[in-house]
Amino acid sequence: MMDQFDAQGRLRHLITLEGLTRNQMLSLLDRAETFLRGPGELPAASLALQGRSVANLFFEPSTRTRASFELAAKRLGAHVLSLDISTSSRAKGESLLDTIYTLEAMQCDIFVVRDAQSGVPDYIAEHVEDHVHVLNAGESHVSHPTQGLLDVMTMRRHKGDTAGLVVTIVGDIRHSRVARSAAQALGTLGVGELRLVAPASLLPMPDEFPGATIMSDADEGVADADVIMALRIQKERMAETDVPNREEYFHRFGLDARRLARARADAIVMHPGPMNRSVEIAPDVADGQQSVIREQVTNGVAVRMAVMEAVSASPAEDPRLLTE
Ligand code: CP
Repeated sequence: MMDQFDAQGRLRHLITLEGLTRNQMLSLLDRAETFLRGPGELPAASLALQGRSVANLFFEPSTRTRASFELAAKRLGAHVLSLDISTSSRAKGESLLDTIYTLEAMQCDIFVVRDAQSGVPDYIAEHVEDHVHVLNAGESHVSHPTQGLLDVMTMRRHKGDTAGLVVTIVGDIRHSRVARSAAQALGTLGVGELRLVAPASLLPMPDEFPGATIMSDADEGVADADVIMALRIQKERMAETDVPNREEYFHRFGLDARRLARARADAIVMHPGPMNRSVEIAPDVADGQQSVIREQVTNGVAVRMAVMEAVSASPAEDPRLLTE
């Protein structure tokens, strides 16, 4: 895999959370905090990316990640291009690399990439010029690093240090890049217990989540948890015949008020979106007092601002990102 750090140990690309030190992660989270604003205030803005050109290349659908990267880049003063892949020359057979080289020739210097195939962000990072940055915006079932950061940011804002928390992720763990990146972030920052709850067909492969407790009973999984994250079933990554029955799934694994009552009274409810209401989460729980789902979205813009600023800052401007 391509080294996502430069010779000085500075973050150059963000492909995975694996390999980020605790200090590097905390530095990004602390910086993201400074980009948050209160209700009714204007969003944070800076000129950190002035003159830069950011290309959003989403080869899979997205609402939150694509919109938040675009807003984050604009709020940092960048020019932003969100390429419509379906009407791009990719549809005429142009290769991925020729698309990248074409945009590089137009002086795009940050590529935000989502792809259904694993390895694509890394592959692009290996082929771009030295001054260009690649940010992974969701890679198959493998990695979604900015989602992992915004998820731990949301936990920390509500619960403080994650080190003693019981975090339960319930849903389609097997196909979830969100679960993998959250587990990596929690592995670095610390967690009391990470529980992964799913039907047998949606559990991860053995040893994929070292240290996590694997469970198949959602009532047990949720009991006394501090944080519960519900995940949707990723139908796009499985055969139609493997998709569980909606009603049965909701009964066994859906997060409804009865099941949530088994968690700690101050537990928070998270979901990366998009939600399938009444499949993995009940509408009254999704919109309820314990839900922080919309805060996750808000934090996503702040995290993406912090990441784009970090990769494009010179070490002299941000020595916090030097390795320990
Ligand atoms: N959480 C997430 O990745 O959402 P989108 O697919 O809408 O970007």
